[in-house]
Amino acid sequence: MPADAAIAALPIAETALKIPAHIAVIMDGNGRWAKARGKARTEGHVEGVKALRRLVNLAMAYGVRHLTVYSFSSENWRRPPEEVSFIFSLLRRFVASDLDTLHANNVRVRIIGSPEGLDPGLTRMIEGVQLKTLHNTGLELIVAFNYGGKGEIVEAARRIARDVAAGRLSANDINEASFARYLMTADTPDPDLIIRTSGEQRLSNFLLWQGAYAELVFLEENWPDFGETGFVKALTEYSRRKRRFGDVEAQEP
Ligand code: FPP
Repeated sequence: MPADAAIAALPIAETALKIPAHIAVIMDGNGRWAKARGKARTEGHVEGVKALRRLVNLAMAYGVRHLTVYSFSSENWRRPPEEVSFIFSLLRRFVASDLDTLHANNVRVRIIGSPEGLDPGLTRMIEGVQLKTLHNTGLELIVAFNYGGKGEIVEAARRIARDVAAGRLSANDINEASFARYLMTADTPDPDLIIRTSGEQRLSNFLLWQGAYAELVFLEENWPDFGETGFVKALTEYSRRKRRFGDVEAQEP
């Protein structure tokens, strides 16, 4: 059965939509979308940016507070160099074309990931984007770029070890809450919902710590086809889930 067949079975109108405070999205299937149309993979990524724009608008319209998108993973370096540099150029173009609108819409933009392998110009651009939107109070848009969950946890452990060695932190004070403050998402609540498109059903090293209790929704459509229908389908499925956080009764966070 396709991943979202059961989701489609319930009429949307019958389910009161719960709006997750934080949605994270694995935007998958750009290459397959392009291949199915006899186009170059890069064209799939270009369409993917349009779908990202739709997602941001939907998140704002539906009152989502935090939105994290996986736009380049630390494993994506394995792709052909031309594709890697194309995705890098897309980030620059996205910022050039959309930053003013995002800022005007009170969106706070953050970029999480490793600075390793990024050229200094890109690093400066990322700092500029974050600085410009730092005081915005609307949607927080977190772009995971050159990001990997395992790497993030290792980096947090390294910084904790340094702080312990320097006497700034006691080993006894390391717990889940203090550990989380060393992650790149320190100031953001964990995602309530993680959506992945293209029918693949795995996390692929995305928000491994933060996603511990996230509801996972897998949509069959490829990322460039994503729009309000898929968004509402994912919210409908999320709204029907009973979140227990390890307890016996459904809990609200
Ligand atoms: C997954 O599709 C998509 C990516 C690895 C890149 C995601 C990038 C975008 C949606 C646009 C870039 C946006 C910014 C802001 C940089 P895939 O290529 O893995 O597709 P496939 O699994 O069908 O090959």
